[in-house]
Amino acid sequence: MCAFKFTQDPPKVNTLLVSLRIRSSLSHHIMIRTLPRKLKLKNITNGTLIQKSSRFYATVGGRSRLEGKVAIITGSASGLGKATAHEFVQHGAQVIIADTDTKLGPQVAKQLGPSAQYVECDVTVEAQIEEAVNVAITNYGKLDIMYNNAGITGPISPPSITELDLDEFDKVMRINVTGIISGIKHAARVMIPKGYGSIICTSSISGLFGGLGPHPYTISKSTIPGVVKSVASELCGVGIRVNCISPAAIPTPMSLTQVGKFLPGFTQEQIAEVVSGLGVLKGAKCEDIDVARAALYLASDEAKFISGHNLIVDGGFTSFKNFVFPSPDKTV
Ligand SMILES: NC(=O)c1ccc[n+]([C@@H]2O[C@H](COP(=O)([O-])OP(=O)(O)OC[C@H]3O[C@@H](n4cnc5c(N)ncnc54)[C@H](O)[C@@H]3O)[C@@H](O)[C@H]2O)c1
Repeated sequence: MCAFKFTQDPPKVNTLLVSLRIRSSLSHHIMIRTLPRKLKLKNITNGTLIQKSSRFYATVGGRSRLEGKVAIITGSASGLGKATAHEFVQHGAQVIIADTDTKLGPQVAKQLGPSAQYVECDVTVEAQIEEAVNVAITNYGKLDIMYNNAGITGPISPPSITELDLDEFDKVMRINVTGIISGIKHAARVMIPKGYGSIICTSSISGLFGGLGPHPYTISKSTIPGVVKSVASELCGVGIRVNCISPAAIPTPMSLTQVGKFLPGFTQEQIAEVVSGLGVLKGAKCEDIDVARAALYLASDEAKFISGHNLIVDGGFTSFKNFVFPSPDKTV
């Protein structure tokens, strides 16, 4: 019996499988202009990440797109938040590093210089979010940008919904969703009287598809674009924009720790290669700077008419699926 017979060229197969191969070297795709600067980060015990170096990027043409603006970035002691904090400072903003990490947070603030300060903040504790916002008002008299970025993946197992630990689920939701709502609430409190502001949240491509992450993470991230639309519907009436960013997989302490659990025996560099290789856009890798620049755009006046939007930073990954046909030699 005939299954499929190709009368023309065979269709494309899913290129993801090809891109999953570990490449031999960790070459960085450099866009526009980058300034590599080695940074020593603390080792995290239990075999987790270690970012040996982090790229700090020069401003494009020296422009200061956030001159005079004040920003809070939650979860900015590490990863995407840290890269964004650097980008914001490079573009003239005062940045409050709001994070639970009392070791890395002050270090990052110190590296960024007088334009940054660290505030200990657990986004699951509303009073601490409130306090971070109050610090912005006390020190600078305003808050222009609130970037609710802190998030966790939660446990990668059990894989089945039938065994889901609801306490673990609640923990992920408290950070990834309630923490964001709390950040929006307190930012709005001080932005509404001023009649302006840009609120940004970090979602994920895991919120666009099932199956890319564990259930709690996927569910929490799929909720964020809805939160953004709901809040944008109110705050557009007072001149405040609310958007989110959905990044693809990027090597950060979070992703390296999670992916490393599936790849015992791999070095951190190899795991980083695997994470970078998950993309589909030829000639480019998804990097922390891509999210930082997306946030820079949404935070800046260049995005003055963008609200309620989910800016997907994935090189096209979620824009398609390919049919996987049997190979011609298996057809009758
Ligand atoms: N790295 C990726 O591949 C990827 C992809 C899509 C989305 N994201 C999202 O990006 C965001 C940042 O992730 P990352 O990869 O930079 O991770 P990361 O682990 O490098 O950084 C997360 C930071 O959040 C802080 N944090 C954790 N819980 C907190 C809390 N309760 N209150 C305040 N701070 C807290 C941590 O101390 C850390 O500094 C997360 O929301 C994550 O879900 C990451």
